[in-house]
Amino acid sequence: MTTATQKADSRARSARTGSGLDIEKIRQDFPILRQTIHGKPLVYLDNAATSQKPRQVLDAIARYYEGTNANIHRGVHALSERATAEYEEARQTAQRFLNAAHSHEIIFVRGATEGINLVAQTFGRAQVRSGDEILITAMEHHSNIVPWQILCEEKGAKLRVVPINDRGELMIDQLENLLSERTALLAITHVSNALGSVNPIREIVAMAHKRNIPVLVDGAQAAPHIKIDVQALDCDFYAFSGHKVYGPTGIGVLYGKTALLESMPPYQGGGDMISSVTFEKTTYNKLPYKFEAGTPDIAGVIGLGAALEYVTNLGIEKIGAHEHDLLEYATQQVSVISGLQIIGTAKDKAGVLSFVLEGVHPHDIGTILDQEGIAIRTGHHCSQPIMERFGIPATARASVAVYNTNQEIDVLVQGIKKVKEVFA
Ligand code: ALA
Repeated sequence: MTTATQKADSRARSARTGSGLDIEKIRQDFPILRQTIHGKPLVYLDNAATSQKPRQVLDAIARYYEGTNANIHRGVHALSERATAEYEEARQTAQRFLNAAHSHEIIFVRGATEGINLVAQTFGRAQVRSGDEILITAMEHHSNIVPWQILCEEKGAKLRVVPINDRGELMIDQLENLLSERTALLAITHVSNALGSVNPIREIVAMAHKRNIPVLVDGAQAAPHIKIDVQALDCDFYAFSGHKVYGPTGIGVLYGKTALLESMPPYQGGGDMISSVTFEKTTYNKLPYKFEAGTPDIAGVIGLGAALEYVTNLGIEKIGAHEHDLLEYATQQVSVISGLQIIGTAKDKAGVLSFVLEGVHPHDIGTILDQEGIAIRTGHHCSQPIMERFGIPATARASVAVYNTNQEIDVLVQGIKKVKEVFA
């Protein structure tokens, strides 16, 4: 073990939180964290881009390929039956994770982006007419903007945008004003990836439903931090990505209410999504298979199931509480750095600290921090309209996960001070 690695371990050992989680023990589940970058212990603070994977997820994927690999829903042989059972068990895990009423309301997709595109291309293509409006907000990721722009262009519909205030909070009264009989759908993020703002989804859904407007929630940045209960939220669609919830890349979930999913045309055509095919006519499979054409990412689904179980076993509320403590500590620590401005100061925030530093481009911040072993994201975070709203080209963004510690925040703060020295 290198000295730097020992330092990283002792840093973790001293981590104690009010959440009741044993962070040292949790860190041991994540092999990737035990390394040095440029000779310094890795401080991984780019969790909003993707989080690291625990041994439990890595093992589940390896176990599947080593002992089970077979196609699902097709074979009568033992491996296929076992693979099918594991795949469908993961669907039930996802159902419990979201508290969906039925497992057939869980559609496996490549990620939140594909989930949103699926709704745009099925519900949207079938329901949206010329003159209709799709309502989104000024804090959306490109993945919850562009699919609606494509749809609006095709249909002659209009994209309307709910503004945000200077703290990066949604202007709810404006949202209410923008909901009208022309609104075909409200598509809104639960948590902003660039600002960390948390939206009051339950209240917003109630407002939309009063006017019979369905609501799609982009939960990519919420699912890792907040307990999601789709029945309590009463949202019509909820999409999240596995790789931000400690699961593999390339897999995610779209939740949809049964009646809506039943009424929607299929997304992609192919094997497994059909009931019968002739050259004259094809009839479609029942839910959820109607939306899962072709051989899916079986290993990814099984890995995602393991990740959701991991998070559930730790307790999502405890994870959220720990991250909240980290965010508060980080906010206090960076607030005293002269020339540093936090972008996104909403009262209700999750896990994200975006900032700019006077006279220094965020990319330079990221590059210098990297030399210190600190991984953050810099740029527009696939949210260019947010940057435009704040009149900046980019931010530096530190984002926390369950395995991060206050000591790592201290390293970040020291790193930012170093950046300032370099540019003094
Ligand atoms: N959407 C991811 C992020 O915010 C990639 O970094």
